[in-house]
Parts: sequence; C-alpha cells; structure tokens
Amino acid sequence: MDKDLIKKAKAVLDGNFQEKGYSIPCKGLYPFQWKWDSGFIAIGFAHYDMGKAKLEIETLLNAQWGNGFIPHIIFHVDTDTYFPGKDFHQSELHPLSNKKYPSTGMTQPPVLGFTLEKMYSIAKNKTDILNFIEKNIDKVYNNHKYFYENRDPQNEGLVYIYHNWESGTDNSPLWDDIWETMDSPEYTFTRRDTDLVDPSQRPSKREYDHYLHIIEIAKQHNYSDEKIAELSPFLVQDPLFNSMLIKSNYSLISLYRILGNNEDKIEQLKQWQKKSIASFNKKLFDEELGAYIHYDLRNEKPIRFVSSSSFSPLFAGIPSKERAQIVVNTMLAKFGDDNMYLCASFDPTNERFNPKKYWRGPVWINLNWILYFGLKDYGFNEVAQRVKEDSIELIEKAGFYEYFDARKAIYNSEKGGYGGNNFSWSAALLLDLINN
Ligand code: DGY
Repeated sequence: MDKDLIKKAKAVLDGNFQEKGYSIPCKGLYPFQWKWDSGFIAIGFAHYDMGKAKLEIETLLNAQWGNGFIPHIIFHVDTDTYFPGKDFHQSELHPLSNKKYPSTGMTQPPVLGFTLEKMYSIAKNKTDILNFIEKNIDKVYNNHKYFYENRDPQNEGLVYIYHNWESGTDNSPLWDDIWETMDSPEYTFTRRDTDLVDPSQRPSKREYDHYLHIIEIAKQHNYSDEKIAELSPFLVQDPLFNSMLIKSNYSLISLYRILGNNEDKIEQLKQWQKKSIASFNKKLFDEELGAYIHYDLRNEKPIRFVSSSSFSPLFAGIPSKERAQIVVNTMLAKFGDDNMYLCASFDPTNERFNPKKYWRGPVWINLNWILYFGLKDYGFNEVAQRVKEDSIELIEKAGFYEYFDARKAIYNSEKGGYGGNNFSWSAALLLDLINN
C-alpha cells in the first residue's frame, strides 16, 4: 500500500474541517454540513484527532430540532454556490425546527448511534470519551424516538423516508418508477452541481424537478410528519436507512449498559429492536431475488431491484446465518464478477445500471465500509477482505473521490474516480479500514 496514503487521508480531512467545528464533504460541490457524512467523518478523525471527532458530532447535534429530528444539511454559512439552499428549504416553517441553525426539513440515515460506539472503541482515553457520550447519547436516543413515533404510520417497526435525499442514495434507479407516478411541474432554477462536476455524473434536470416537488408539498404543510405521511408522493421503507437505525439501536443499548442507570431506555430500545427486525425480515426480504429490497409505502408495492443497500442488513445483524449466505451469494453472483470491484451501488446485470452516474452504479466507500463490517460479523472473511482491498485499491488508483467506477478495465485509460475530489468520508473510512 502507498505509505503516504494515510498522510494524504488525514490531509483531506484536515483540509475540509471548518472553523465552526464541522466538516464539509468536499470543496465546491458541498459547502455545508451533511448528517451522515458527519458520522463517517467523526470515525476517521477518532483515529488521530478525537477533539475534532467530538466537535463534528456536537455541532451536528446542536442543530437538532425540538422533536428530536436531525436535519440532513445544516446551512452554517451563506453561499449561493449550492442549490437548493436554505431559502428554498425554509426549515423555519416547522414549529419545532432549530431557530439558530437553518437546515433542510428532511433527514439522512441514522448513523450517530454506531458512530458513538465506534468512537468509544477507538478512543484511548475511555473516561474522557464516556463523559462525551454521556453528554450526547440522549440526543441520539431522542432522534430514534422521533423516528419510531413519527415515521411508522402502520406501527410496523419500519420507518419511512419521504425523499430520495433522505436515503443517501440520491438518484438510484430504485426511484425511477416512483418518478413515473408523479406529475411534477417543470421548475425554473439554476443548478450549481453541474457547473462543478461533469453533468453525466449527476442527476438529470427532470429528476431535480421531482426532488423539488416533494419538498414543495412538504413545505405547503410546514413539514408536518402527519401530512407528509398522508400526502408525499415519495414514501419508502428503505433497508439501508432501517439497517442504520437498527445497528444504532444496538450501539445505544451497549453504550447505555456501559454508562449504567438507563434501564428504561434500554428496555424501550429492545422493544423497538424486536419489532423492527421481525418486520424487516418479513417484509423487506425477496425470496426470488435472494436479497433485501425497498418497499414503496405510497403505492403499496415492493421495489424489486438489488442495490448495495440490499446487503446492508448484514451490518445490523438482521438476517439469520442461512439468509446471510443467500444474500452473499446474490452479491457475488450479480456484483462479484472478477472484472469488477466490489461493490457497485446498483445491480450491474440490470439495464438501469450506469457505471458513471452517482448512485446508479458506481462504488461508494461508505457502503463498502458498511458491507466490510457486516460480512466480517457473519464470518464471510474472504469476501470482507476483498471489499476492503478493493476500496483501498480504488483510492490508490484514482484518489479520494466521491464515487468510483466498478469496472477494473476503465482504470487503464481513464481516471475512474467521479464526482467531488478530496472527499471527506472516502478519506475517513479508509483510515478506519486500514486500522482494522
Ligand atoms: C446533493 O446535493 O446531491 C446532495 O447529495 C443532497 O443531499
């Protein structure tokens, strides 16, 4: 391995850290704080600068709303280099929104529980990190409470997302059929992302119309969860999002046990957990595909495609041993060709696969990190090792990009790294992978 890689990773992270105590995902494209990015970034910082790791999380939690909600973007600075910004989202419409920190009115996968547990396991000074965790853990618990109490209309233990940006897998082909059900207006707006990155690597104008339309509907109802559940044209139970929640539930249980005196919260978390895992296995597993899939709650139908999200339940201990084997077989059969790096974000054998376009095919380091630990937990050590080595090789070959072409041959003639460069979580999670 490139000996300088660790040094370079730290330079990327330090370069993206802002005075106000948070990190941007990368320069240019993403000038604010993003929720799930911050979790992964804190894990990277924990390996060499726990002060920054703690600040990253504290700054995010400062932006929490009165109802426990944590937004997906916190607009810490004023800039017109990103669209749609705070004037479009208008988080102040929600009565319990955070009046100090303008944000979006949507969220992102709940990574903070397992981020805190990771920080605890990495920390050398356990007393200090436990003090930090004690100060912040209830905020994360309240965030989970928000999800179970507001995002689960049929009381199944599975929470919904109401926007593709909440999934984190923004323009996945998974959503294509939902767009077909929508009659979004043609909005007039100026995008900034396509000035900064080759448009062939970003979502289309029509997709952005749909993205904006969902937000307009939520805004008309002041981001009321009840109204969104009733009216949002996009309402999905996402296996990645729910796996992150379940993994984080486990982490909160472990950390509350270490802290002591939190029996009521541990009991509540266990109850959520039991119900969530049972429903997850019943509703989100597709026998025929041999993988976990998404469910379209608005149109009451399964979304029958395999994506890297389909394998994320391994990370949260959701499948039985037998089912885990089926899931891994599917991964290897569809995504594991020798000419391909693991793990493409969307089924490479499907006609909707696009190796260059954001979440329609490229490899993402955060998903690989999730899969690496999931595979290891179930004893699939060889596949786990392959995911780890592929991740390191991609970064060595292309640099700290946002996403990567899964086709090995492309690297003979092209760069293969796409989207933003010097991307924080690619650097952060490389540091964590190398240390494992
Ligand atoms: C973007 O701007 O593409 C972001 O990923 C939204 O979260």
